[in-house]
Amino acid sequence: MYSQSLLALCLVSMTAAAPVATTTSAPAPLTPSKLLNFNNSWAIQLPVGTAANPTAVNTISNPALITFTSPNFYVNAAKTGVVFYTPNTGITLSGGHPRTELRQMTGPTGQAYASWKSADSIPHQLNVTAKVRVFKFVCVHIFNTYGILENIQVDFVQPTRLVIFSQIISSSLGCEVSFRANQLGVGKGYAIAVCSRTSGCYTLEANYAAGTLFTLQLSSAKNVLSVSYKNLVSQVVWKKDIPLTVAPDFVYKAGSYCQVTTDTDPADAYCQVTINAISVV
Ligand SMILES: *[C@@H]1O[C@H](CO)[C@@H](O)[C@H](O)[C@H]1NC(C)=O
Ligand SMILES: *[C@@H]1O[C@H](CO)[C@@H](O)[C@H](O)[C@H]1NC(C)=O
Repeated sequence: MYSQSLLALCLVSMTAAAPVATTTSAPAPLTPSKLLNFNNSWAIQLPVGTAANPTAVNTISNPALITFTSPNFYVNAAKTGVVFYTPNTGITLSGGHPRTELRQMTGPTGQAYASWKSADSIPHQLNVTAKVRVFKFVCVHIFNTYGILENIQVDFVQPTRLVIFSQIISSSLGCEVSFRANQLGVGKGYAIAVCSRTSGCYTLEANYAAGTLFTLQLSSAKNVLSVSYKNLVSQVVWKKDIPLTVAPDFVYKAGSYCQVTTDTDPADAYCQVTINAISVV
């Protein structure tokens, strides 16, 4: 028998999971680029292709990004943030995981790939205010031979599943630092953690409640990354300086890089990150 609380969780999940459709027909819709003021600093990588090229990850940079919105990348109903919705069935870059993720750009029109040195003395900074929502858990309705509902079985996505909501990537070396929400299991929420090439993993907040806003401030200079995390609801604070591998080609990323695969999880599992503010220099 499943407990009342699990049943309640299960019923909530049935109404909370659907992604919001793309923008309405209102003139000049508020697009993600306008709400977050991307300032020529970002391009979006999507977990879907285009009609012309359905199997290739679609990347949208300026000027198309200014007016772009989609079911994977849209302003929330309250107009307070941008939702990055990534189904685990999304297409991937080179056999990785699907992502709805911003990549740092540069240049006067935001069309050049940003690439900075860990050794630079002027800090490269990323500030992001975001929240992570549940990955889908699945309710299996079990009917008896008379067609009467007998039980609701709650199948949670594996506890090792996670979404990476911010990263520093090196074009030559790969992922240097990744910030992630690890799902802890039934009704247990998440742990917010950082994993680094040089220093292993640290827990920033052991009991992150899904949907609570946090700020993450990163500042990279002289081969050191200063991390400052604060959950605006629980007030949990975490700060640390982490060494960076010496590399000439780092870039910031932010969004929903979904580490939930269809190998082990149902095909309607997903990751969802909402970003309310983002700035980069
Ligand atoms: C965008 O650029 C303007 C002008 O340089 C600056 O004032 C503003 O703070 C920037 N906004 C963000 C979110 O970076
Ligand atoms: C990030 O936040 C810190 C602390 O408020 C501030 O000093 C810094 O200028 C911010 N950086 C960016 C890129 O917004």
